Amino acid sequence: MDSYDNNEKSDGGDKKPAAEQSSRWRKLWQPPGARYWLGIPAGGFMMFAVGIVFWGGFNTAMELTSTLGFCTSCHEMTPVYEEYQQSIHYKNASGVRAICSDCHVPKPWGSKVLRKIKATFNEVPHAIMGTIDTPEKFEAHRAEMAENVWAEMRSNDSRECRNCHTLETMALEVQDKSARRRHTLERKQKKGETCIDCHQGIAHKLPEGYE
Ligand code: HEC
Ligand code: HEC
Ligand code: HEC
Ligand code: HEC
Repeated sequence: MDSYDNNEKSDGGDKKPAAEQSSRWRKLWQPPGARYWLGIPAGGFMMFAVGIVFWGGFNTAMELTSTLGFCTSCHEMTPVYEEYQQSIHYKNASGVRAICSDCHVPKPWGSKVLRKIKATFNEVPHAIMGTIDTPEKFEAHRAEMAENVWAEMRSNDSRECRNCHTLETMALEVQDKSARRRHTLERKQKKGETCIDCHQGIAHKLPEGYE
């Protein structure tokens, strides 16, 4: 304690720079004064605020990249957009519209982020390379893309379709016989078919040569 006190006294004394330095060094290791402890919650709060701002920005980006306008910014030139506009999912008696992302972008958060990452590393480079930038190139590539979409929908039991349509909520009695027979839960249990097994080409033309 003695030497400590000495150092305290020498604090600010220009003549003893070495002692002053050792005093600073000691101060560094002293527990901070009460008001400095406030720094911890204040710092925590600031990180929290910064986090919210980034999180908001991230979610806004996620939303913007799921709008019809975003998808058509590239796909307006491809035939899928016009085909979609002729389909029941664009315009129908009930006025409920399914947009591109309703069918193609997962709703669950993790799958959605993964899909966006995949798009960044697959679709964006292909857009730059011009893989589908003419109708001819698009048609040549369509079967492969359709197969990708079908495979994905089969793998998740047509999850995106089921955000809007479920077998459980269908009024089978108002459906025609062919539909009614195929939409029962018993059949689903027995055969394990999913929507996309029977409903292909519902928003776009099927690739050439496909039934
Ligand atoms: C930057 C331009 C661009 C934007 C924006 C864009 N796409 Fe694409 N998309 C492409 C290109 C290029 C391909 C062809 C990729 C390939 O060859 O694998 C493609 C392919 C696809 C495919 C076929 C995927 C596959 O697995 O083969 C689907 C489905 C698709 N886009 C849907 C969408 C939807 C839905 C949106 C909006 C959320 C969207 N795209 C936004 C450029 C874009
Ligand atoms: C955003 C909600 C939504 C999503 C997602 C959606 N649909 Fe639909 N679907 C509708 C609406 C709305 C109609 C039109 C209903 C009406 O007015 O008869 C419809 C109609 C249909 C029809 C009837 C077609 C006809 O000609 O009568 C089929 C089949 C269908 N959807 C299958 C699917 C499949 C398969 C998927 C997944 C790839 C899907 N839908 C995804 C909302 C959706
Ligand atoms: C085993 C084949 C099969 C499966 C699986 C199947 N459907 Fe169908 N669905 C049909 C047939 C056949 C029709 C009647 C003809 C048509 O509209 O294509 C039909 C009709 C429909 C209609 C129009 C009904 C109406 O009367 O307006 C909708 C909507 C529909 N299906 C949605 C779905 C959805 C969503 C799934 C998955 C949850 C699904 N279907 C699974 C075969 C199937
Ligand atoms: C109602 C659901 C639905 C909507 C809405 C929808 N698609 Fe699709 N899309 C599909 C299905 C199912 C396939 C798989 C091929 C098929 O069955 O036609 C597909 C295939 C595709 C493909 C691969 C090429 C092809 O023709 O198979 C592209 C690209 C694509 N969609 C882009 C879009 C874009 C862009 C939009 C919005 C303008 C959109 N889709 C809206 C269901 C949908």
